[in-house]
Amino acid sequence: MKRVAILISGGGSNMLALVASMTGDHPGRPVLVTSNDPAASGLTRAAALGIATAAVDHRPFGKDRAGFEAQLLAHIEAAHPDILCLAGFMRILTPGFIARFQGRMLNIHPSLLPKYPGLHTHARALAAGDAIAGCTVHEVTADLDAGPILGQARVPVLPGDSEDTLSARVLNMEHQLYPVVLRRFAGGDRTPVTLG
Ligand code: GRF
Repeated sequence: MKRVAILISGGGSNMLALVASMTGDHPGRPVLVTSNDPAASGLTRAAALGIATAAVDHRPFGKDRAGFEAQLLAHIEAAHPDILCLAGFMRILTPGFIARFQGRMLNIHPSLLPKYPGLHTHARALAAGDAIAGCTVHEVTADLDAGPILGQARVPVLPGDSEDTLSARVLNMEHQLYPVVLRRFAGGDRTPVTLG
């Protein structure tokens, strides 16, 4: 059984989808939900499901990323995770942190990478007039949003779409894609999967 720690920064809808999927013959189980924001509502939602939670407010650390990560790491290591899932986690991790978990740390990004790494992905897809958008689950490496792709899900961009309508359509697919990828990854299968 693989022990899965999930890192969030906000509502944690992806975390909830992952947690809900880890039942029965799924080779993974959630052991910790942690956040850089003590007020992240996903922490309350995880606790309500009986999952251990921990938060480290990144703000007092200012530019001391390593200091923040050392505190975060203490909570993470205490849970002895086999796999880390970044799920709406909005902090850039240092190469040192990434090196510690490379090969067993996943992230979900709301674009069809390699298109639109970074922020405001939906606005950029709309501005470009793209007909297709979507999301990507990839292994986390030191190159931001650029690690080996483990899965992608595509959605149509519809006439009249706004950032809100497109992001909602993509988020719905994130909730389908991430659990599929995690189940395969936890079972040792890194074959990329495509949905939609
Ligand atoms: C969403 O914008 C999602 O596209 C991205 O992270 C943000 C928050 O996700 N992956 P969540 O609801 O906290 O999982």
